[in-house]
Amino acid sequence: MAQIPLGASDEHEHIVSDINIDYVCFLLIHCFQYEDNEEVVLWMNTVGPYHNRQETYGYFSLPFCRGPKKGISHYHETLSEAIQGVELEFSGLDIQFKANMEKTPFCKITLTKKDYHTFEFAIRNYYSYQMYIDDLPIMGSVGYLDENDSKAVYLFTHKKFDIGYNGDQIVDVNMTSEGKIRLEIGQEIEFSYEVNWKPSSVHFEDRFDKYLDPNFFQHRIHWFSIFNSFMMVIFLVGLVTMILMRTLRKDYARYNRDEELDDLDRDLGDEYGWKQVHGDVFRPPAMPMLFSLMIGCGYHIAFVTLLVIIFSIMGDLYTSRGSILSVAIFVYAAASPVNGYFGGSLYAQFGGKHWIKQMFWSAFAIPLIVCGTAFFINFIAIYYHASRAIPFATMLAVASICIFIILPLTLVGTVLGRNISGQSNNPCRINAVPRPIPEKKWFMEPLVIVILGGILPFGSIFIEMYFIFTSFWAYKIYYVYGFMLLVFLILAAVTSCVTIVCTYFLLNSEDYRW
Ligand SMILES: *[C@@H]1O[C@H](CO)[C@@H](O)[C@H](O)[C@H]1NC(C)=O
Repeated sequence: MAQIPLGASDEHEHIVSDINIDYVCFLLIHCFQYEDNEEVVLWMNTVGPYHNRQETYGYFSLPFCRGPKKGISHYHETLSEAIQGVELEFSGLDIQFKANMEKTPFCKITLTKKDYHTFEFAIRNYYSYQMYIDDLPIMGSVGYLDENDSKAVYLFTHKKFDIGYNGDQIVDVNMTSEGKIRLEIGQEIEFSYEVNWKPSSVHFEDRFDKYLDPNFFQHRIHWFSIFNSFMMVIFLVGLVTMILMRTLRKDYARYNRDEELDDLDRDLGDEYGWKQVHGDVFRPPAMPMLFSLMIGCGYHIAFVTLLVIIFSIMGDLYTSRGSILSVAIFVYAAASPVNGYFGGSLYAQFGGKHWIKQMFWSAFAIPLIVCGTAFFINFIAIYYHASRAIPFATMLAVASICIFIILPLTLVGTVLGRNISGQSNNPCRINAVPRPIPEKKWFMEPLVIVILGGILPFGSIFIEMYFIFTSFWAYKIYYVYGFMLLVFLILAAVTSCVTIVCTYFLLNSEDYRW
């Protein structure tokens, strides 16, 4: 990689460029430029079954061997790479920019019984490994299974790299696995590699295009899904308008009649449904802390999602490892005041007394849920020695982000929220005695409405969810963030409409626990 003058002595500069080059390159844009015969690092990443991208192990957990070149032994990961289980290790292969290399053996192993079984297991489960050259991912399969002869497992021992360059930049990498040998215990296996450099006309900015699979993300499906959701939005908006029109028309009719009736008749008139509960609707919920916590977290998540999607549209975040996760963590931490503001002000409006407790809970609710899940998965990962096991330092980093960034920012938001909009300004007085809730049909119970209400929003996003999860578990790169933004907006619209309709139904059955 390009030498970066750091104003240090030659010796020092060498060390810096060896160890910290990835940090430096992270900050500078122009570090993907090479001089002739400059070292190009091949990083070995992870190995795992082809059908589940989330199950990964370090490349050298299989009995592969390293090339002769010593150097950077372990890559210094960023936080999000550590969380995603990226485990880059130097391959030890000597690759130089624009220098072709004939087939060269780089190391040898003697296959012990244990090694044999490890390889056999990997090959039978279609393990494939991932490497990086200059941030371009390369996939290769460990071995090959003969369909006709179930006993035979074959291992690929030769890696042939075809690297395309444009000017002084690497724009394309193909790797072919060759040198198929049948595995036998006690056998001596020699691994070799070969490098061919070819001029290429691909532009550096477009070098990730070949990893994007336009067939998979058939735009027609997206449009269909969006059309589908859009219809749902129209239907719901229609329903909401209809409800509003109906009640409004009734109100008008009543006001017209009021002029003819006296006061007593008006009070005992045909009031029913939601008008009966006006003395109770603003009664604070049974668990104000939980409620305001969830409201605050909801605002927070919606805000973070929107920002991250917009960032992803603006910069092609998929081109560098883990950057979406980094951005998400950063935005989440920075947006904590949103959580504090809405949660804190709502809690103050309910007249809650334990606002410090409320703030702690809302600051840590999502991190706790996420970390709890991660911790659980981590246990399983450690048990199986997967590379996704999160190192202790990473846990410490996440914990300190929570304590030193999220908590103070939430405090700021809470204080602001309590002072700016902490006063309740309800249009109706709350009755001293709660009104009894009448018996009603089972589908009008709040719990049933909550569950049924979730169906429509889910229906509006599930096709997009399918794509997101496929990119999560299979080797597809998700890149249609424009669609994601649209779907997110539709989701927001559907959710609001469903909420209005559900609230209306609930209040209409004279249940004030909305
Ligand atoms: C890699 O493979 C693709 C598809 O076969 C080909 O178009 C491209 O030229 C190859 N690149 C190099 C550097 O060989």
